[in-house]
Amino acid sequence: MPTELAAQIYRETIGFLEESGYISYLNKLLVEEYIDDRMTRIDVPSRGLETVDAVHCILDRNRTFAFLEAIEKSVKPGDVVVEAGLGTGILAIMAAALGAEVYGIEINKDTLGLARQLTRMFIKNGLFDQENLLLIEADASTWDPPKQIDLIISENIYAGMFYEMQIPIVNHLLPFIGSSGRVIPDGISSYVILAQAEKPLLKGHGKSFSPSQAEGRIYKSRELSEPFLYDNINFNQKNGMDCRIDIAIPIIRSGLVNSLLIYSPVKVAKDIILKREDMIFMGEDIFIVIDPPLHVEPQSTVRLRMEYKRGSKPEDGNYFLDLQKVI
Ligand SMILES: C[S@@+](CC[C@H](N)C(=O)[O-])C[C@H]1O[C@@H](n2cnc3c(N)ncnc32)[C@H](O)[C@@H]1O
Repeated sequence: MPTELAAQIYRETIGFLEESGYISYLNKLLVEEYIDDRMTRIDVPSRGLETVDAVHCILDRNRTFAFLEAIEKSVKPGDVVVEAGLGTGILAIMAAALGAEVYGIEINKDTLGLARQLTRMFIKNGLFDQENLLLIEADASTWDPPKQIDLIISENIYAGMFYEMQIPIVNHLLPFIGSSGRVIPDGISSYVILAQAEKPLLKGHGKSFSPSQAEGRIYKSRELSEPFLYDNINFNQKNGMDCRIDIAIPIIRSGLVNSLLIYSPVKVAKDIILKREDMIFMGEDIFIVIDPPLHVEPQSTVRLRMEYKRGSKPEDGNYFLDLQKVI
């Protein structure tokens, strides 16, 4: 159950987004363009997400309440908090309401404008004072905080660590946190399943597609292997950009592997975990097309070699499958 404070901030934020037309605009866009096509089109490293995506994040209730809960449990009055990638500002607003000194950083000018409007509303309603939250248009992977930080909040994550700039942002800010400093979220782990999916036409090898609850879209798939944990990241330490794996995955069902299904549960904080089934936008499954497909039988093993840069688009990676042995 969310606390009264979290419920109030969420309710008033949604009320504002509805009244100002952002939610109906989002619903219109979701019909016009699939999320995965937009994520492939937009240039996140230099421009961030679009404002509508920041609004979309909020509608993912499980995600938003998990982050609000983690912040509420972690922040003490007077803490210095940096929120890298403000979006609507809802998480920074929670930290400010708890009495922290918050620096909210956003690379997208229009999104920063939205965060400014929301912040003004909450200040006017007496939730916190203006000095508690400073909004700054900057790239959080190069911006230097003016003082030591107690908490970094950075929700720039996506299944498989694709698309978003979490690693460069957190790597840059980590040296500014003190010995008892911490990061929300704490970590993320990525799993791969060999799958036979009903894939969209015209998606060739390495291209990706995602189901979307918001868009009412699912791709039926048969999972031909168990999930294989291939990446485990702790955001409280520096991480590299390269994800390179060479693994042998046992097959459990016969079929045609035509995609890699990737999903990434998030450890938001101790005891606050977002599981695969909890995700709507941030961590929805990603399928990566394997073409030509590979016929597999139970008791065989498939060698998967996969290389990509964290933060890049799935189509920029390399994916090779070989049927290795039949036992
Ligand atoms: C996934 S949204 C999360 C928004 C908000 N923190 C929340 O949890 O609702 C990430 C936000 O970070 C912004 N962003 C992406 N890269 C950034 C960067 N390098 N520096 C600052 N902001 C960035 C995006 O424009 C987007 O608004």
